[in-house]
Amino acid sequence: MSDVKNEAWQYTTRGRLSTTIQLTQRPYPTYGEEDIVVEIRAAAVNPVEEQIAQLPDLMLRLGGAPPMGTPFIPSQDFSGVVHAAGLKSPWKVGDEVCGLKLDLSGEGTLQRYLRVPPSIPVIRKPSSLSFTEAAAMPLVYQTVYTALVSYGRLPFEPSPEDTGKRSVLILGGSSGTGSVAVMMAKQMGCKVVASCSGKNADFVKSLGADEIIDYRTEHVAEKAIASEHAPYAVVFDCVGGKDLIPYLNRLVLSDPKAPKLGIFVTIVGDKTDPDVLGGSVSNLTYPSQVLRHIRGALTDLLPNWLPCKSWIAGKRYACISLDQKTSYLDTIPVFLQRGGKVIIDSTFPFAEAKEAFAKLESSRAVGKVVVEFA
Ligand SMILES: NC(=O)c1ccc[n+]([C@@H]2O[C@H](COP(=O)([O-])OP(=O)(O)OC[C@H]3O[C@@H](n4cnc5c(N)ncnc54)[C@H](OP(=O)(O)O)[C@@H]3O)[C@@H](O)[C@H]2O)c1
Repeated sequence: MSDVKNEAWQYTTRGRLSTTIQLTQRPYPTYGEEDIVVEIRAAAVNPVEEQIAQLPDLMLRLGGAPPMGTPFIPSQDFSGVVHAAGLKSPWKVGDEVCGLKLDLSGEGTLQRYLRVPPSIPVIRKPSSLSFTEAAAMPLVYQTVYTALVSYGRLPFEPSPEDTGKRSVLILGGSSGTGSVAVMMAKQMGCKVVASCSGKNADFVKSLGADEIIDYRTEHVAEKAIASEHAPYAVVFDCVGGKDLIPYLNRLVLSDPKAPKLGIFVTIVGDKTDPDVLGGSVSNLTYPSQVLRHIRGALTDLLPNWLPCKSWIAGKRYACISLDQKTSYLDTIPVFLQRGGKVIIDSTFPFAEAKEAFAKLESSRAVGKVVVEFA
């Protein structure tokens, strides 16, 4: 395969990826007997690539990344066709696949030929999806599944008795993650209240939201608490910041008949700077988040008869990063069969990857930004 030309967008300096990435020639990847090499057809871009590109050297090294200055290829979501397969791989040449290569190795998916080891979650591309749509799903879908099903404990397959009884508040309903969350929560039989700006209200309603809060003109916490759907089995935060934290007690459900439900799950955390890495890593730098985790855990651990319980324990809270699990990706076809859609904000040809990052950096994308490989 040494005669097959590889090509990648990579950076060697910190900064906005719309300005730092450079197109370079790369060797075709060497691969082991359990690996595959995927000829990439599409790669979605995500805010986390921008945040990784701003990480201090110490954090990069702790995460196993090469030091800044070593060429780093961004992006993690991919779809494509298996171009080469190791002898022990379950995949064969020609298989159409999609997956998520979420690591700090610097071998991201903005390259024409990508080595994919068996540790990376990969599924067969759902036949109803184009390569562009299939590349837009893995990261946001696994994130939402982790938040609503794993941490939120909402049943992915709800029983008829569950339907209509629970409600979910989604902060950032028009975002890549929030839009999938609105659809998944609705499919799971929940009432959905979502925040977004007025210009995106009709779009978020069309995904299934029962009630919209315009974050630009309304007080999100007060409106959410006043809703007929409050309190919420899950508050899912795709925005970040601390505005809603003082209201946790009134937002998050406490129901003796459903003692496992009731949690505030954030994938961002207290930080508000879009260039700073959020999720579970931010628990290292925001001790108040850790304290909230602990107080929430005490709700489960302490007996109800303890007089000081309400003073020590708090509502369940988790600042999380997605779980990378093939079993989560395996549920995408069910999500699609139930009417789930892939929301694409915009697509850019491979040669215009810088423009794709510029769109992402605007923080105004509605759904996913995807780079298509010709
Ligand atoms: N921890 C994890 O595992 C994990 C996984 C995925 C993503 N994330 C993080 O989650 C965040 C969201 O990611 P994403 O890909 O979903 O973002 P995105 O699609 O780039 O978000 C852009 C959208 O957010 C909306 N928005 C901006 N500010 C808002 C606010 N205050 N309230 C409500 N909506 C607002 C914008 O709508 P308007 O134009 O109307 O403002 C726009 O539609 C990022 O910080 C990302 O790094 C974390």
